[in-house]
Amino acid sequence: MPTLKRIAILTGGGDCPGLNAVIRAVTLDALRSGIEVVGICDGFLGLIKRTSRTLTQADVEGVLNLGGTLLGTNNKSNPFRFATGKNPDGSPIISDVSPGCLEFLTTLDIDGLIVAGGDGSMTIASELSAAIQKAGLKGASGRGIAVVGIPKTIDNDLPGTDLTFGFLTAVRVAADAIDRIHTTAASHHRAMVVEVMGRNAGWIALYAGLGAGADVILLPEISFSFDRVIEAIHARRARGVNHSVIVASEGARPEGGEQIVAKIDPTSPDPIRLGGIARYIADEIERRAGIESRYVVLGHVQRGGTPEPEDRVLGTLFGHRAMDLLRAGKGDRMVAMRGVSAIGETSITDVDLHMAAGKQRLVPPGHPLIAAARAVGTCFGD
Ligand code: F6P
Repeated sequence: MPTLKRIAILTGGGDCPGLNAVIRAVTLDALRSGIEVVGICDGFLGLIKRTSRTLTQADVEGVLNLGGTLLGTNNKSNPFRFATGKNPDGSPIISDVSPGCLEFLTTLDIDGLIVAGGDGSMTIASELSAAIQKAGLKGASGRGIAVVGIPKTIDNDLPGTDLTFGFLTAVRVAADAIDRIHTTAASHHRAMVVEVMGRNAGWIALYAGLGAGADVILLPEISFSFDRVIEAIHARRARGVNHSVIVASEGARPEGGEQIVAKIDPTSPDPIRLGGIARYIADEIERRAGIESRYVVLGHVQRGGTPEPEDRVLGTLFGHRAMDLLRAGKGDRMVAMRGVSAIGETSITDVDLHMAAGKQRLVPPGHPLIAAARAVGTCFGD
């Protein structure tokens, strides 16, 4: 197996705590084994616009504890479906600009490409890998350009891995916020609804809600009834507890109802932007039960700022594993963590990249955390 000469890394989709830990791990690991590293700027947009820079040890000095991504990112840049202009009616012109990206990859003379991203990025990575193989592209060492994915998302919704980096930081931020909401809710005898991110998966709501003792947790995977939610609030009141904290995942929906969409952006690979469920729930609680209610949307606070040490560790572990895969000449893989939970053993592994692409890992309704939450009286609105 010829020695690797040069590899590239890009961070795709939304930013996420721990991305810099990944970039640092990949860069230091590669440089220490004599491999040059190219950073692609702004996610897949960098492949389209041909913007990249060499990464040195100095570039990753002191970045382990920094939020965001030093390479920049972009979640509107799928090379296979890129908005290149507008039709007379205002709709976007969508073009396949991937041939230009393949050409750019050839000029970079790399043996491997590491993509840290969520399900959208893994889908693009998987398509890119297939296109690279079809075109028979070769890198600096004469072998094919291998593509390896690293699972990144605060939503923790990628199949093939039990944990994505960024999730634990988002849970910490959300749980801290919910802790704070408890005291103001109690002082005013209010119902307070906290909206957390997660798209179609309720992992953040479940972990943060359970960890911060939410009274009601509403997940996209379990549609809720307003009657059940109000009953839970009344039951607390009957015990003399006049406040309630409801954690709602942005993708939660009432029985027979739809998710609340804040915006649809047809130029984005992820066109549906969720948001607004907390306000809707707070308004309905007031309207239906006359209980004074307020809502808070945590939004991008969950994604920004200092990554928790666990995410720095996970990012380092994932970055090293990705480098090991490239050194072994293994492409079409996504690094993964298995057996992560309060129960079970942890192991670092890798799975088929194409299998992980384009799918979401949702919370199974029979998940042990749901059972534990129900056992301590948490209402899921069902
Ligand atoms: O996938 C991560 C995530 O933060 C989701 O939880 C959220 O729905 C979405 O990204 C928000 O994306 P944007 O950065 O485009 O607002």
